[in-house]
Formats: sequence, structure tokens, C-alpha cells
Amino acid sequence: MKLVATKSITEGTELAKTIYSDNGQVLIKKDIKLTKRMLKRLHQLGITYVYIKDAFTEDIIVNPPISEELRIEAIQMVKTSFKDFQDNKVKSNGYLLEKTGTKMTEMVSNIVSEVKNRDEVLSILSDILISDDYIFSHSINVTIYSLALATELGLPNKQIHQIGLGAMLHDVGKVFIPEPILNKTARLTNHEFDIIKSHSEEGFNFLRKSSNIPLLVAHCAFQHHERLDGSGYPRGLTDKDIHPYGKLMAIADVFDAVTSNRVYRDAMLPHEGLEILYAGSGTLFDTKMLEAFRKTVAIYPNGISVDLSNGSTGIVVRQNKNLNDRPVVRIMEENGEQVSPHDIDLATHLNLMITNCDIASGNKV
Ligand SMILES: [Fe+2]
Repeated sequence: MKLVATKSITEGTELAKTIYSDNGQVLIKKDIKLTKRMLKRLHQLGITYVYIKDAFTEDIIVNPPISEELRIEAIQMVKTSFKDFQDNKVKSNGYLLEKTGTKMTEMVSNIVSEVKNRDEVLSILSDILISDDYIFSHSINVTIYSLALATELGLPNKQIHQIGLGAMLHDVGKVFIPEPILNKTARLTNHEFDIIKSHSEEGFNFLRKSSNIPLLVAHCAFQHHERLDGSGYPRGLTDKDIHPYGKLMAIADVFDAVTSNRVYRDAMLPHEGLEILYAGSGTLFDTKMLEAFRKTVAIYPNGISVDLSNGSTGIVVRQNKNLNDRPVVRIMEENGEQVSPHDIDLATHLNLMITNCDIASGNKV
């Protein structure tokens, strides 16, 4: 399979992956030849790229970071819990939060075991899942990234689980922000922005009331927008005062935010997301953690198009786990001329560099 821009695909193209809604309903099934109506639907849903079947890339596999079933179940659970919190059933009644904390802890354990058992770098691009509400899929993506980073850092199991729960709940304070402000696509006024920013503290105050949610989990909500140089919020803490969980979550949160499709802009690709993070290395984000994070994500995910420094163009076939910026590439063109496809392992061709990475358009590489 390969990744192509939705706007460039034509009728009759076959999808290589099923597209689900966030409640697990199949929107467009894989292997079906796309009709004009389905193409229109993809545009309406804001899906900017899809995996398609293609004779030259049939053997390219894209593994989701966790199983589709678990991911859908997790998103649903966050959705139901956050809605319950919003309905205020819990603010006055700690019982629901206790119950939810227990359910979420179990869910985190399931995600931890799937993330730990994978032998590959993470590629959330592989899950093109539609979400009518960004916050729920964002909470799960941040959980997956945080757990992968915590594992890479070699943290003890207990801390990994706390981080997972903290990630799942890091934005819980947003349920107390009025929806018209939260979902506003136009430029926010300073006052509205201050209201949005209050979600960190709101989340903290909400979570710390629960006896079965560790205080450090509540601090993930409190500190995920703090930055090393003190430019973050709500308290403008600096490096030494920010808890490691807060530093870790900042990385996972920003990476998912910039690599996800939002109403106001298209998703960046992973290598662009990493560039954003690296621009803040040591000033906004912890350098050591960034290095570890870089090792956990697929910088050039399978199925993506890349240009190489020798003038050839190809599709990423598979990852090299310890050299995740040097994948195996199937060369399709050399200096603009089509060639018979052949694979080059960039881990052993150190003279070659990736000079560009993009989503292919249509049937062209
Ligand atoms: Fe946030």
C-alpha cells in the first residue's frame, strides 16, 4: 500500500485500509473501488490522505500502533467518561470519577502491553480514523506516544502506568470549557484564550479530588503546557520546577497536535512535527526526552514518498528499528525517469540522504 493525497485520487482506486468513525462504525471499507460519491465523502470528512492499493507496493504493510479494536474501545471510553464529567455528575459525586479512574487504569494496562510488545517504531499515520471530536482521539494518541516514550526512557512499570493514565486525562479540564470557545475556528480573543488555558488548572483541581487517581496523574493535567524557559502556562514554571511527567507529556501533546488534521490546518508529517519540537529543544522541551522520543516514532512512515540525494524517488517499504531516519526505500524513478522498482536499504547506503518527504499524488510516485 502507499499513502496518497485524497485530492489526487481518481474513481476506481482501491483503499488499502478501512476507514472507521470513532465509534467503530465502518465508513469506507478497504478493497472497495472508490466511487465519485465516496471520493466526495472523503473530502467532506476532511481526510487529506489515504492508503491505497497499488501493484508496486502490494507488499508494504502498515501496522497500527495498537489494534484498531483497542483503539476504538479506548476512544469510546474517553468519550463516555468525559461526557459524564461534563454533565457534572461527578463534580458533586466523587463516585463516578472513582469508577472511571478504575476503568481507565485497566484500559491503560491494555494499551501498555500492546505498546510494549511491538517491535516497531510508532506510526499513528497508519490509523486514519475519523474523529468528530478531536479531544478524544488526541487523548488516546498522547497516551500511546507518552507510553512509548516512557518505555524508551526505561522508566519503571509503576511510572509507565501513571504516565499512561495522566496522558489519557491530561486534557480533561477541557470538558469544563464552554464549547463555543473550545471549538471556535476563528482567531481567539485574549480573553477567550485565557479561558482555554484554564483547562490545565481545571483538570488538576478536578482530578486531585479523586482518591484513586494518583496526585502525579493530576499533575500531568496541570503541567503539560509548562515549558522549560518559563513561557508556558498556567504557572510559567521553569525547567527545575517542572515534573518529568509534565516535560514528557508536553512532547507527546505537541507532536500529536501538529501531526493531526485540525479544522484550521492540515496535519504535518512526522518529520515536520519533529522539526517543530527540535526548534524548541532545551528551551521549551527537554533535550534528552526529545532524543528518546525521536527513536520511538516512524520519521518516514511506510508507504510515504521520499526523494533521495541522488535524484531518485521512491516509497518507504519498511523501517530500520535502530536507524529510524534511514528506512528501506523502493526506488520507482531516477532523475524523473521511471525505472523497474528495486529496494535500497538506507541503513547500508549511508551516502544517500532523504531530501524530501511527501504524500504521493495519484498514480504518480
Ligand atoms: Fe492541553
